Amino acid sequence: MSAGELTGKVVLISGTGSGQGRAAALAFAKAGAKVVGCDVNVQGAEETVSLVRAAGGEMLSLHPADVTEPEVAARWVKMAVDAFGGIDVLYNNAGSLRARGPFAKSTLEEWNLTLRYELTIVYVPTMAVWPHLIARGGGLVINTGSISGHTEILPLRSAAHGATKAGVIGFTRMLAAEGALHRIRSVSISPGVIRSGATERYWTGDAAARAVGAGMVAKIPMQRHGECEEIASVAVFLASPGASFINGTDILVDGGMVGVSYSPISA
Ligand SMILES: NC(=O)c1ccc[n+]([C@@H]2O[C@H](COP(=O)([O-])OP(=O)(O)OC[C@H]3O[C@@H](n4cnc5c(N)ncnc54)[C@H](O)[C@@H]3O)[C@@H](O)[C@H]2O)c1
Repeated sequence: MSAGELTGKVVLISGTGSGQGRAAALAFAKAGAKVVGCDVNVQGAEETVSLVRAAGGEMLSLHPADVTEPEVAARWVKMAVDAFGGIDVLYNNAGSLRARGPFAKSTLEEWNLTLRYELTIVYVPTMAVWPHLIARGGGLVINTGSISGHTEILPLRSAAHGATKAGVIGFTRMLAAEGALHRIRSVSISPGVIRSGATERYWTGDAAARAVGAGMVAKIPMQRHGECEEIASVAVFLASPGASFINGTDILVDGGMVGVSYSPISA
């Protein structure tokens, strides 16, 4: 992606207060897009706006904003349309894992929270943006799946998480079929083990947490975790002219973790 390739494009990104959302805001702005972010975390969201503007980019943000609430998603979309006249890309990045541990000890409350904060969090903003993408004559929806939509990551031990992330990937396929009628593409990105706010404890936390992180990395052929920028760059590519025939698919960005049942080998 060369700087300026997305000049003038209006890009909504959820969860810009941390991790992959922040990296995406910076990367899309660097490529020339007008970014409209949001987050429940006010401080993080404000910091990202400052970082983007300090780098010479253009960004607005709604915060606090819980985009599982239809009224909040509608306000977020209106902010973008009022400021920039339309929307080209929706990047459903925000999500938070709300259930862990043995299935037998799981609760319906955790299950419902996980559905809300990992699946409804994709549905609600997409519903709010969809008519605007149609009005624009086309666009792109990027949804955030996970390796957990493909395989079970045992330390997480979350049946609800596996269900929601597989759900995001399935939702994206149907959206792609519907969207093709309106020149709207839909693609999911499934990150692998990525260093972000959500996983920071696995790299810098106590010994037990770091052991979990090391255990996950041991299963990755590339023998390292990914960085948020390595997801953001894929999202920016998906919005670029070079990705014009990518639709209805899931892109794993995981260092080979899902594709390879890894054991150490030597050259
Ligand atoms: N980090 C990983 O290893 C990993 C792996 C696979 C998938 N993912 C997915 O990547 C996405 C981004 O996660 P991350 O790793 O950057 O985590 P993160 O916790 O660093 O960032 C997520 C951001 O989303 C925000 N958010 C959560 N719920 C929200 C809501 N209802 N409305 C608005 N904002 C909300 C949080 O406040 C936070 O700022 C998530 O969908 C996550 O499931 C992460």
